[in-house]
Amino acid sequence: MSSKILNDMHLANQKRWDASAKRWAECTDSRGIWKRCVEDPSIVFSPTVLKYLSDIEGKKVAVLGSGDNEAVFALAGLGAQVTSIDISTEQLQYAAERADLLGLSIEFIQSDVTNLAAIKVAQFDLIYTGGHVAVWVSDLKRYYQEASRILKPGGWFLVDEYHPFRRVWKKVPDALEVQNDYYRRGPYEYSMGDDVLYQEKGVYTCYEFHWTIGDFINAVIQAGCQIKEVDEHGTYVGDWEISPMKGLPELFLIVAQKQV
Ligand SMILES: C[S@@+](CC[C@H](N)C(=O)[O-])C[C@H]1O[C@@H](n2cnc3c(N)ncnc32)[C@H](O)[C@@H]1O
Repeated sequence: MSSKILNDMHLANQKRWDASAKRWAECTDSRGIWKRCVEDPSIVFSPTVLKYLSDIEGKKVAVLGSGDNEAVFALAGLGAQVTSIDISTEQLQYAAERADLLGLSIEFIQSDVTNLAAIKVAQFDLIYTGGHVAVWVSDLKRYYQEASRILKPGGWFLVDEYHPFRRVWKKVPDALEVQNDYYRRGPYEYSMGDDVLYQEKGVYTCYEFHWTIGDFINAVIQAGCQIKEVDEHGTYVGDWEISPMKGLPELFLIVAQKQV
């Protein structure tokens, strides 16, 4: 199943992710989380997220922008019926192979998160999205409206994204120096190779969007969801981040419930 892609920027991002999928799979293989998270979801989800997953067994869950599918496999390990949605056919292909190896039954849908037309309204009890997905999406409101449309009334919407305070710095190791104004959403256009982690210039054009905390909160509210909890969490600084960001929040979580 596939759906229409929103615009040429998303199409370019899809091509880049398709091209990057092999290297991303190698990278996630060396981490090995995708194998271990089925038994131990705490290596993927924070304690606050886990609190909202305590009765997820048997429930219908969708992961939007599923990427490495670590969240998908962790949710399946908790007994949820999981649908994994991503724009990249190649990413989904690796995920499907891994699901087979793990013996998990997952539904995979190739789709742009801003157009989930392949999915009927009010299908899911919970939607999880996060870890660098919104940065690739040019219309945050449309993305979360689609998430809300496929959620059942009273269903939970969990946004667990990389903290936007980490996106503003120049990639130099010695000092924190602002490169991108926090309020400049983009699009940021880059010509990149096929490694999404250690970015080198290359033949793939991609587009990033730097949404602010206010943008995320407003998009959730405008999608008809009521925010129940917000949690900024994590301190880990990966090698790929380069800037010395110790002490800055790593991720932020918005927990919201679709209004009945
Ligand atoms: C960094 S990954 C997602 C997070 C995941 N934890 C990971 O690290 O793999 C980003 C994913 O978002 C997907 N993506 C980018 N733009 C998208 C869009 N418009 N609709 C659906 N998926 C999209 C990419 O294909 C990629 O698999």
